[in-house]
Amino acid sequence: MDQSDTLVLDTGAAMRAVRAGLAGTVGLVPTMGYLHQGHMALVRRSREENDHTIVSIFVNPTQFGPQEDFQRYPRDPERDLSLLKKEGVDFVFMPSVPEIYPAGFDTYVAPGSIAERLEGAARPGHFRGVATVVLKLFNIVQPTRAYFGQKDAQQVAVIKKMALDLALGLEITPVPTVREPDGLAMSSRNVYLNPSEHQAALCLWRSLRAARDLWAKGERRAETLRQSMRTILESEPLARIEYVSAAYGETLQELEEIQPAAQVSLAVWIGKTRLIDNIELRV
Ligand code: PAJ
Repeated sequence: MDQSDTLVLDTGAAMRAVRAGLAGTVGLVPTMGYLHQGHMALVRRSREENDHTIVSIFVNPTQFGPQEDFQRYPRDPERDLSLLKKEGVDFVFMPSVPEIYPAGFDTYVAPGSIAERLEGAARPGHFRGVATVVLKLFNIVQPTRAYFGQKDAQQVAVIKKMALDLALGLEITPVPTVREPDGLAMSSRNVYLNPSEHQAALCLWRSLRAARDLWAKGERRAETLRQSMRTILESEPLARIEYVSAAYGETLQELEEIQPAAQVSLAVWIGKTRLIDNIELRV
């Protein structure tokens, strides 16, 4: 494969000009960089389904709360670029913060009720920042399709709703969660975990599996699933639960009965690192 072909664009104007010259379908993979195999699954899917693939790398300040990890969010653009070159990606859009948010920037997307629960409740303003930057990326890149990981299932739901409500006219494609061999969902933030915290973090996947097993045996009471997850998480000394949820996937409202399907999700602190994970239960 020719690895010299990846073009890096750092302004909206340059990205737009390149896009305007592309014939056929364009897949966009929005990321905040520090790429891992979860991101690469999105890239591969886009490469399979489109004539061109554009990956954006932008650590978006507006989706981080004031006490969150924007400043120390892991970054390694050189490594990211070499991974994307190896994968045969045509274009990488890597704007600066002032390029996306120039002085005086003052217009935001306000996602509705779907963004108020779970991650939205725990991280006020998070989805406003996500929706705003994603819409801006869509406007610059004008993709045919955009790819998002189920690892962030609520993010997928928020973006799908925005695309529908605002008639964006593009396809939002969810991609299944990629896990480490031990079950830990891949995340750029996993680099914060020391080895004992990594071990402790396996309780997230353990508790999701326990919920899935109960459900597979016929348990349909959502609270029983939530309680079994809490019990497993509480037995891990390094873990602190932020939320445990068994909700209807479309609205993320908590369920009493798992009928017919459910989105089971959780947010857990392992030491100073906040991790999220989820699975869908569906017959
Ligand atoms: P980031 O956390 O870098 O993730 C970029 C994309 O990769 C998201 O769609 C995310 O769901 C997906 N992803 C992350 N880990 C994954 C895994 N283990 N398996 C499958 N997909 C995974 O999500 C964001 O960035 C930002 O919010 C963004 C959408 C770029 C807006 O700033």
